[in-house]
Amino acid sequence: MTNTPTYQPAEDGVDPSSIPYKRLYTGSKIPAIGLGTFGSDKYSPPEVAAAAKEAIRVGYRHIDCAAVYGNEHLIGPVLSEVIAQGLKREELWITSKLWNDKHAEADVIPAFEKSLRELQLDYLDLYLIHWPFPNHHAPGVDVNSRDPHAVPYIHEQFMRTWRQLETLVDRGLVRHIGTSNMTIPKLRLLLRDARIQPACNELELHPHFQQPELFEFVQANGMVPIGYSPIGSPSRPERDRTADDTVDVEDPVIVRIAERLGIHPATVCIKWAVQRGQVPIPFSVKRPQYLSTLRAIVGEPLTDEDMTAIAGIDKNCRLIKGQVFLWESAKDWEDLWDVDGEIAK
Ligand SMILES: NC(=O)c1ccc[n+]([C@@H]2O[C@H](COP(=O)([O-])OP(=O)(O)OC[C@H]3O[C@@H](n4cnc5c(N)ncnc54)[C@H](OP(=O)(O)O)[C@@H]3O)[C@@H](O)[C@H]2O)c1
Repeated sequence: MTNTPTYQPAEDGVDPSSIPYKRLYTGSKIPAIGLGTFGSDKYSPPEVAAAAKEAIRVGYRHIDCAAVYGNEHLIGPVLSEVIAQGLKREELWITSKLWNDKHAEADVIPAFEKSLRELQLDYLDLYLIHWPFPNHHAPGVDVNSRDPHAVPYIHEQFMRTWRQLETLVDRGLVRHIGTSNMTIPKLRLLLRDARIQPACNELELHPHFQQPELFEFVQANGMVPIGYSPIGSPSRPERDRTADDTVDVEDPVIVRIAERLGIHPATVCIKWAVQRGQVPIPFSVKRPQYLSTLRAIVGEPLTDEDMTAIAGIDKNCRLIKGQVFLWESAKDWEDLWDVDGEIAK
């Protein structure tokens, strides 16, 4: 009996072969845009899974998942279904992340296996250590909540976790490994001690938070920067907002470009990200949004003047500050980010 492929792309979608990609140090290609899957407190796991399914139909091939988002068990059946319908597994790029409570040597492989099982795959394209700290908290807690066992970055511990990720590559279960929420001094140590180099570093990147130094360091050291909250996370929970936060999609430079091109300011942020050289992973469960985002990146590029104007609106405004991961002796959230250029103790 032959299997007749029944996979049907959406008629109004974007041809995936027209979507730009970035080349990793291994020679593999990562699609230059992915779909985020963190529903915050606002969007339920079934809504996110349904969006992933339709996003693949409209042309997305890269999905940014994580165990802590609590929806891999619903995204897995979607991946299984499209693959059973004839979409080749190799055409998809699936990322997942190890959560902070699974850094202990004995916990890494079982946590990975759970993600792989839930995602109904036999390998991942990328597996990241979500945060460089084993500090965690109950979902949805207040920003002032602290893990009493929280510790600063301990490189030897991080390397023990990393060595477990390396074995996943050796066993053919993961094609690339990488980091997230790292800083230059932490990355320097990892690059020095890793047997298998990180292929990607995921970091917050949007026009009001461009992190030029870290961005350049990541690229110069053979990693691809994956940019999270690329629109400035307008739907993030209240607990992740402070009075000083600025709003990218209301910036006059972004709004002016959007008006000229007749597109939403959110899609200007995404076009800028792709043209600058990072891989944005915007979140949306709304078809018109994620479709228009994809169309925007294959449409008319921003001009050099647009790119220069956006480079000029960086406000160093970090939105995801990570307060809940602070340890007892830490002064404030800036300690998570080594703002003095040294690893904070
Ligand atoms: N590694 C990490 O530690 C980390 C941290 C944070 C996020 N992430 C990843 O990054 C992904 C994206 O970040 P994020 O969710 O914080 O923020 P984001 O992508 O910057 O913002 C998402 C919001 O932007 C709006 N939007 C999306 N597309 C739009 C469009 N075409 N037009 C108008 N509005 C649009 C939607 O708002 P409405 O809902 O109001 O429609 C959506 O909820 C996450 O889902 C997750 O996968 C990773």
